[in-house]
Amino acid sequence: MVKVTAPWCIQAKQDGTRITMLTAYDYLLANILDESGIDILLIGDSLGMVIQGENDTLGVTIEDIIYHTKIVAKAVKRALVIGDMPFMSFQVNADEALHNAGRIIKEGNAQAVKLEGGKEVVPQVRAIVKAGIPVMGHLGLTPQSVNEFGGFKVQSKSELGIRKLISNALALEDAGVFAIVLEAIPSEAAKRVTEHLKIPTIGIGAGPDCDGQVLVTYDMLGVTDFHLRFVKRYALLRETISDAAKQYIKEIKSGVFPSTEYAYNIEIENDLPDESTLIDETYSGEESDSFDDLF
Ligand code: KIV
Repeated sequence: MVKVTAPWCIQAKQDGTRITMLTAYDYLLANILDESGIDILLIGDSLGMVIQGENDTLGVTIEDIIYHTKIVAKAVKRALVIGDMPFMSFQVNADEALHNAGRIIKEGNAQAVKLEGGKEVVPQVRAIVKAGIPVMGHLGLTPQSVNEFGGFKVQSKSELGIRKLISNALALEDAGVFAIVLEAIPSEAAKRVTEHLKIPTIGIGAGPDCDGQVLVTYDMLGVTDFHLRFVKRYALLRETISDAAKQYIKEIKSGVFPSTEYAYNIEIENDLPDESTLIDETYSGEESDSFDDLF
């Protein structure tokens, strides 16, 4: 098993190997995705919307990211674990950005960070990269700028927009990022950015010509209930979970569950020394070192 690293991603572009990336926020799903062979797991600030139920990502804190990154990192053996830098954790200046990136690595056990923005974040990227922390960039529809964009809207739809995008991507590459996420831009724009860069692009709603693809895992699994154009649902877990929950409720109400096969139908042995033994109030049950008895 070869552990995925930032240099591995750059090599993948040179080799023409497409990079696969998904978001992860918890131990069990991260473990399943890692064992399935995903290359990169991002603890995205999308957790503000997916996990916390907010309308945007702006309220996510550095503590939220560290908490989720730490439990994801514990579950992962092969994938590159990237912690997202939340809104206002890097925008103020390079020192703060470096401090917070360092926390995501030291406390969250990530192997890289991601941050949104173009030329305006170059000093931050340089400071973080100089400290030995790999940085992934993020351009196009950067959700932390939702108020500036006036909503979640496709970006870089004009020739000028595409040229600005390319120039931001080149500035990030020059500052040392090892890959760039391109979100919600026309396929033509993503293709042109990708052709200009030596580092890989990872698309989300950016068409087929990026060097890799990322989706929010709960969207891809069909758990979320809104259907963005760029999201392919590889499973319909919302329906599956809802059907299971409805059946569970029905069976409890009707007494079908738990039937004998789901219960411990054990004949109670009489281990009282004599019939008159009083119940010992301090007795807290038999001690067991494992769960074996429960299966
Ligand atoms: O926060 C996130 O999950 C992201 C991905 C969608 C790229 O930034």
